[in-house]
Amino acid sequence: MRRILLSLLGLAYAYCGFSREPQSFFPAADLIVPGSYYYPEQWPEEQWDRDLERMASLGFEFTHFGEFAWSAFEPEEGRFDFAWLDKAVALARKHGLKVILCTPTATPPAWLTTAHPDVLVENAAGRRLEHGGRQQASWASDRYRRYVERIVDTLARRYGDHPAVWGWQIDNEPSHYAYSYDHNENAQQAFRRWLRQKYGTIEQLNKAWGTAFWSLTYNDFDQIRIPNQTVLAGTANPHAILDYKRYTADEAASFIDFQADILRRSIAPGQWITTNTMPGHSPVDPGRMRRIDFPCYTRYLVNGRYAGHGDQGFRISNPQLLGYNNDYYRSLRGVTGVMEIQPGQVNWGKFNPQPYPGAVRLWMYHIFAGGNRFVCHYRFRQPLRGSEQYHYGTLSTDGVSLSLGGREIVQFNREIATLREHYDPKATLPKRLSRLRTAILVNPDNRWDMEFQPQTDQWSTQQHLDKYYNMVKRCGAPADVIGEEHDFADYPVMIAPAYELVDSALVARWEQYVRSGGHLILSCRTAQKDRTGALWEAKPSAPIYALAGIDDLWFDHLPKDKWGHLDFDGETYRWNNWGEVVNPVAGTEVWAAHSDQFYAGKAAVVHRKLGKGTVTYIGVDTDDGTLERAVLRRIYGLGGEPYDLPAGVVLEWRDGFYVCLNYTSQEQPAPLGRNARLLIGEAAMAPAGVTVWQE
Ligand code: GAL
Repeated sequence: MRRILLSLLGLAYAYCGFSREPQSFFPAADLIVPGSYYYPEQWPEEQWDRDLERMASLGFEFTHFGEFAWSAFEPEEGRFDFAWLDKAVALARKHGLKVILCTPTATPPAWLTTAHPDVLVENAAGRRLEHGGRQQASWASDRYRRYVERIVDTLARRYGDHPAVWGWQIDNEPSHYAYSYDHNENAQQAFRRWLRQKYGTIEQLNKAWGTAFWSLTYNDFDQIRIPNQTVLAGTANPHAILDYKRYTADEAASFIDFQADILRRSIAPGQWITTNTMPGHSPVDPGRMRRIDFPCYTRYLVNGRYAGHGDQGFRISNPQLLGYNNDYYRSLRGVTGVMEIQPGQVNWGKFNPQPYPGAVRLWMYHIFAGGNRFVCHYRFRQPLRGSEQYHYGTLSTDGVSLSLGGREIVQFNREIATLREHYDPKATLPKRLSRLRTAILVNPDNRWDMEFQPQTDQWSTQQHLDKYYNMVKRCGAPADVIGEEHDFADYPVMIAPAYELVDSALVARWEQYVRSGGHLILSCRTAQKDRTGALWEAKPSAPIYALAGIDDLWFDHLPKDKWGHLDFDGETYRWNNWGEVVNPVAGTEVWAAHSDQFYAGKAAVVHRKLGKGTVTYIGVDTDDGTLERAVLRRIYGLGGEPYDLPAGVVLEWRDGFYVCLNYTSQEQPAPLGRNARLLIGEAAMAPAGVTVWQE
């Protein structure tokens, strides 16, 4: 009876799309809940009790099971074995650990793909992926989805009302690793179906894709294949590429949502559903995943790829890697968590440095400060066998000693108690900060289109976004990275960086936002194209001329070793990546003008008042972001008093706590207010140091 009731409830929730308001799953007073990955199937059964007891005693409050365990759940087709998971979940419960269960669909078993190789992804070279890694099955394969449905449904029925199960993760980092787009026959057909649905007739598609160019005209949808640069003589059609990326993101979302609906049929309403995506991974857009309760993210910070700040920065990382994603994922549904973070050295980096002492704890505080409701460490024990042998765990290879990072994690787990003691449910964002609240407006279409047409080898959309993000944070401003579905009116300041694809409705919303008092900042490349990716039959970026107070605009690039200069407020700045020349109309102020090249004296940054607000157009992209920072500071000064933090120092406010993070290689002062009451750390922060206070 209970099961039937649950199923009915589940169906009703599935129909509505969401089970509950995502916030309601996470009591505010818990602040942040720490947990760790454990793979019972990878360790001798007699160690599980010891390990889970230890996990609990080290201050972890949940664990994570089941990911990648398909061959243990279903050793042969249709023969299931859950006795081991029953036991592991019971042990977790015995030690007071909640459990996140994960669907194992990133790792199809050998029996499945051997019997049905058609479910495997095909890469651009036409080669089928093979068993031996992971993420090798095609989201577009109906046959694969039938197998997925059976295993997910079986798991949901068995654990959907288990009191220890806290929530569900679907798949792992859905992305088909290494950006490998799927070219298999199922995907070819799914792409054609998607195009048919979007365009209705082949004539419409020909028009939107501009196929008269190079005689690309199609007679029928069946002639279309996934654009594959490796077999094209000449550059692929940019509109086909953009649509293909949109289709891929839809397909990834449909694979996740498909599983969410299956889970929802059987799980209790108190269990939540998420998936973890990898920020910025090209074909995936967590915003499209509408049937889960909220998306969360995974991020690895020290792996030889990030220079950070100063001599030891490579061991501490760049603050935007967590900050930007906290502010983006949290904004999608109001809550989020970090599903994976490294506890120390990893095995797969460019090279694999030890994190700087304190860095692992620093990241925990950044994750807390960014509003995350949980943080899960990847992983509890270091594996002794398999592809990630040299990847640190919270525990070292002996399975009992804490690793270097493990000690910092345990310290943070203990410090959460202090934060919880001081939690004040009535705390509200201080005025000084609320005046600086900033939205950074993003749309994956822009990134996808500019990735394909960077126009200069120096262009990186992510770096452009990061630059603005970092400058916002150096002013101490609270930021949300939002999409167009949000209400712009919530933010005194909004930045739309390189917002390439627009339509008249968006421009009208921007105008309304400004007239009502908002300060809008647009940067280079904005409004160059319509939503199909076509240039306007008008002057470049014409749709924003009336808004920005300009009547002409064009761009220039310089070689890597040559610099153009411009003057703003008596200072000189330099650029060589992207520089625009804009022509202001009467009433528009020129804030910065080029001081060399054949356009010396012409405007690069313009500003105007409109209604109760202002519009600023920054046409130049500097490498070091100094010009952007100076312009931002002036705009924040219009409504409030920005902080002036050094590069690599981050200040966040959450639930009444000021959290200051030192990502630099030197000691830095924390910007304590006059009435600050220190809770964690000191007024002077050591490298990788953290200071937390209330005022
Ligand atoms: C993540 C992945 C995990 C594990 C980890 C190792 O990207 O989701 O399964 O492989 O990397 O650092």
